[in-house]
Amino acid sequence: QIPVITIDGPSGAGKGTVSRILADKLGWHLLDSGAIYRVLALAALHHGFAADDEASLVALAGALDVKFDVEEDPDLTHIILEGEDVTMTIRNEEVGNMASKIAALPRVREALLRRQRAFKELPGLVADGRDMGTVVFTDAAAKVFLTASPEERAQRRYQQLLDKGFTAKIDQLITEIRERDARDTNRSVAPLRAAEGSLQIDSTDLSIDEVVDNILEFAYS
Ligand code: CDP
Repeated sequence: QIPVITIDGPSGAGKGTVSRILADKLGWHLLDSGAIYRVLALAALHHGFAADDEASLVALAGALDVKFDVEEDPDLTHIILEGEDVTMTIRNEEVGNMASKIAALPRVREALLRRQRAFKELPGLVADGRDMGTVVFTDAAAKVFLTASPEERAQRRYQQLLDKGFTAKIDQLITEIRERDARDTNRSVAPLRAAEGSLQIDSTDLSIDEVVDNILEFAYS
């Protein structure tokens, strides 16, 4: 039995950072499932497919030539799509919007299941996403649902943008986060919700290390 820890929650709750630290500490593999949706979105944009062209997107998902390269760089998993390094490109807003649209299509989600489950290898896996505990790894040993207030998540996103040299309006970020939450929570397939038996953590007033410690304590108690 290969152990899996799932970390689900809304955008900006700190899942990415927490999952990476956990995987490093445990020496386990890491699945950034959002990156898979983003890669598919980028490939779809390259091919000029519409966000509701489910048949083409399903075919593309099945044939997608993507590699997650962890050897090259210890701090960053490089994502290679059809031989091209798209690690940075998939993070842009246009790709994120396309990802969130195609993620609402049931057959697209279905087509990506096998690819995500293939990450489950010894000695273990930390899986970061929206439906890791509810759909993809239902038999996971430990499931976590990580949230934070919309204001705090907007504040973190604001800081990230500043660090990258962009400017932003905090009010607008809060509005966007609320809209994104509504879309993720209300979609008919794999809506965002805490898996049964999951540890629910509100990270609004917690440091990254406190969140990580809570999860390790939960997983090993
Ligand atoms: O950057 P952000 O946290 O908003 O998104 P992400 O984790 O990179 O995922 C990109 C998009 O894929 C999100 O808008 C989600 O709606 C979708 N997604 C999903 O539906 N299921 C997952 N397991 C992961 C991401």
